[in-house]
Amino acid sequence: MEEIKIFAPASVANVSCGFDVLGFCLDPVGDEMIIRKIETPGVKISKIVGQKLPFEIKKNVAGVAAEAMLAACPLKFGFEIEIHKKIKAGSGIGSSAASAAGAVFGINQLLGKPFSAHDLIQFAMEGEGLASGSPHADNVAPVLLGGFTLVRSMNPVDVIKLPCPSELKAIILHPKIELKTMHAREILKKNVSLKKAVTQWGNLAAFISALYTEDFDLMSRSLVDEIVEPMRSLLIPEFEKLKTAAVEAGALGFGISGSGPSVYALANGIQDTNAIADSLSSSINQVGIDFEIHISAINNQGIKVISCK
Ligand code: HSE
Repeated sequence: MEEIKIFAPASVANVSCGFDVLGFCLDPVGDEMIIRKIETPGVKISKIVGQKLPFEIKKNVAGVAAEAMLAACPLKFGFEIEIHKKIKAGSGIGSSAASAAGAVFGINQLLGKPFSAHDLIQFAMEGEGLASGSPHADNVAPVLLGGFTLVRSMNPVDVIKLPCPSELKAIILHPKIELKTMHAREILKKNVSLKKAVTQWGNLAAFISALYTEDFDLMSRSLVDEIVEPMRSLLIPEFEKLKTAAVEAGALGFGISGSGPSVYALANGIQDTNAIADSLSSSINQVGIDFEIHISAINNQGIKVISCK
């Protein structure tokens, strides 16, 4: 195999109760990347379509992730990467994660899969470190493994893929403002009170239990974030109004997708999903903010090959 075209999907990190540890993979939105073998060792970014991003390897998340991988398996040949960006940078649905995961997934396929999907997380995380100032795996893990994932540890990487009821759907609303993850991380307080920590780990543990038992009521009670959301929601226009609109339309939970500005809601079944999407659209229309909305199943497969030659 000399060349591969892949689909690198968007993802939702944090999922309210799991800052930096919980995430899930989306279906309809994602980047396409073409990766091909070249004679010169190393990595080269040959084309970027759809967005203005750096070609310089050390400044591009795909380049950084690919270099981290090649440092672990030195080769006599190299790779060039074409990135066709569909996920807007700074939208909160894992744009950098898709590029970083895409690069390492594609190269691994061209090499005959010397690394497992789990192994690839540590390389993709290096790209995330460039984008946000500190490596985190809660976007790259669901992209590489599919479905919902839990990051138990980043060093060493220890990630668990979680089960997910097939009726569970996601609604993503992207208000068209840009919010850089690095900035949204800088504003966070570095210390958390014991009381809030207890509430948060209670909710996270309960949410995971609810995924295993398919208990939608418990899921709904657990989708709460008392630590990060109060700080970051101030950066998102009409956050409380949108939350009320989603919950009144039947959302199991509503919160910030990753570091925002996108927000997500989870729903039980397509009927509730459509009602929530309608309610969110009319609510944001009233305040005149440009937006886009996506309805998605939880993508259990994750990143995938489109074609190869
Ligand atoms: N867990 C990360 C954060 C995700 O919230 O900063 C960024 O998409």
